[in-house]
Amino acid sequence: MEAIPLNTRAVSCLDDLERLAREALPREAYDYIAGGAGDEWTLRENQAAFKRLQLLPRVLRDVTQPKLEVTLLGRPLSMPVLIAPTAFHGLVNDNAELATMKAAVDAGVIMCASTASNCTLESIASAGGTPPHWFQLYIYRDRELTRSLVERAEAAGYGALCVTVDVPRLGRRRRDVLNSFCLPGHLKLGNFVNREASDVTKIEGKSGLESYVSSQMDAAVTWKDIDWLRSICSLPVVLKGIMTPEDARLAVQHEARGVVVSNHGGRQLDGVPATIEVLARVVDAVRGECEVLLDGGIRRGTDVLKALALGARAILVGRPILWGLAVDGAAGARFALEVLREELAAAMALVGCDAVDGLSRSLIWDSRRKETLE
Ligand code: FNR
Ligand code: LAC
Repeated sequence: MEAIPLNTRAVSCLDDLERLAREALPREAYDYIAGGAGDEWTLRENQAAFKRLQLLPRVLRDVTQPKLEVTLLGRPLSMPVLIAPTAFHGLVNDNAELATMKAAVDAGVIMCASTASNCTLESIASAGGTPPHWFQLYIYRDRELTRSLVERAEAAGYGALCVTVDVPRLGRRRRDVLNSFCLPGHLKLGNFVNREASDVTKIEGKSGLESYVSSQMDAAVTWKDIDWLRSICSLPVVLKGIMTPEDARLAVQHEARGVVVSNHGGRQLDGVPATIEVLARVVDAVRGECEVLLDGGIRRGTDVLKALALGARAILVGRPILWGLAVDGAAGARFALEVLREELAAAMALVGCDAVDGLSRSLIWDSRRKETLE
């Protein structure tokens, strides 16, 4: 696949990147990344809900140099943006996750590497250096295999285990069914050596990934497995895919150090609310006892700002990183991150805030309820 240098095309925001990526990618790859479950209502709603929230700027405050730095799990971040775990970067770039990690390092952000990477978790970690990046874990039926992933992640120097809890089975993604989505022959799941766990094979009229997930991953996972994971490793555990205050409380009780409010980018259960709609309830439920992050539909610096104002410590961005990778490799993914950084800095100045911890709910106007969200 030909990489398109960014400077030859007009690209000024993350939506431009998606447009270019769509032109560059084979249909099945574009659909796999862009698509969601069912009618894709939740997919659309993730972005639409941000637009229903508006900003109430304060004026006459010195905003010469808004500071974007935050701490997360006790570590400093250059900005409150992480790269969300996404599978199969080899579908969009030949250097796969190594290109993504280069973008993360160059931008000074944390990459959360997916279990379903094409490169090995060790090679991704060594491309990362310090500060430690995160490893996203899927719990496989084969618990020894799962244990070995966790031990390898800890040995490779990852700084947190981000356990995805919203995939007891894969969501029904109609685009992938229609395309009989599978991994092209030259791509494998790099973390596995046995064929069953490393191949996503073609099955006519079905999603090969849906079949892979039902045969390999475990729908019987419960909170006990979270305790087990904590008992076999010393990394902080973050649970990704929490949407209710009840589960957020359970996460705290099971000593998770963080939760990611996520509906998997609208790819799992269609019909669940946008993540930004439920964020404040989760923040209130955890009462500061663990970190709260959010992903889903972030495409603008103002979206980042809205999530932070409603109490997220940081956000993760998924698809736009893949669009950047598809368009111009590591430079394209870096571009996506720098656009968010610049847009966030501009938005902070324009709402009258010079540091992230000064953002509050009073800045957010809910256009449906006609009130601020204080
Ligand atoms: C994902 N996501 C995901 N999540 C996860 O925990 N492990 C994974 O392997 C993947 N794989 C994956 C592949 C692709 C192509 C996409 C688009 C998403 C979900 C991801 O981490 C995140 O929750 C959403 O992508 C966030 O929404 P946005 O930013 O894409 O709107
Ligand atoms: C996805 C899985 C792999 O969303 O998490 O495609």
